[in-house]
Amino acid sequence: MDVVDALVSHHGVLRQLYLQSETNPEIFEELMRQLVVHHTMEERYFYELLEGFPQARRDALEAVNEHHIIELIIKDAERFPRDHERFSVKVESLGEYTTHHLDEEEAQIFPLARQLFTLEDLNTLGRLFTEAKDKLLGVVLPDLPASLSAKRPKKAKGGNKGSPGFRGCSGCGPLSWPGHRKPETVNVIPTPSQERDDRELSERSFYGLS
Ligand SMILES: [Fe+2]
Ligand SMILES: [Fe+2]
Repeated sequence: MDVVDALVSHHGVLRQLYLQSETNPEIFEELMRQLVVHHTMEERYFYELLEGFPQARRDALEAVNEHHIIELIIKDAERFPRDHERFSVKVESLGEYTTHHLDEEEAQIFPLARQLFTLEDLNTLGRLFTEAKDKLLGVVLPDLPASLSAKRPKKAKGGNKGSPGFRGCSGCGPLSWPGHRKPETVNVIPTPSQERDDRELSERSFYGLS
């Protein structure tokens, strides 16, 4: 799968998560997690190289800037009480801005990238993006079909902790992931010795991706 197909495929996941998160705050946690991973890997394995083509540089810079804006919306929503009546507005804002960004990438930037990158480079970047994304998101094992699941012996109480890295963070909700830290334990305040930009400090370090 080349990098454009891989990115479009993951866009489908993001769109689906947004639709589900409109009615389920728990899905919103997953949407934020996948968005930050998507942006980080998309920049590393796509935009950093696309910026090297003069005819695509402006579009690439704009897209990366939109990632920054989306992550500011995430930062705002992440700390907002889930039971507050305005939380659904936060979800909607994130979804609308994200959808606009995904549509623009697919309509304008990806077709241009297909013209500029060689086939070999498109395929190499697609493999790298997919591997990195899957690694960061963790491996999710497929569920057994109901007919087989019913035959599984019941586990002793407390014996089934679920997939490692995906459950059990009581301070942060039902979903967790490798490198995840509770919000209150993360230092998001820049110090003079830190040279990273605000985005990395505030959002990506929060998700364990810096
Ligand atoms: Fe993007
Ligand atoms: Fe994207």
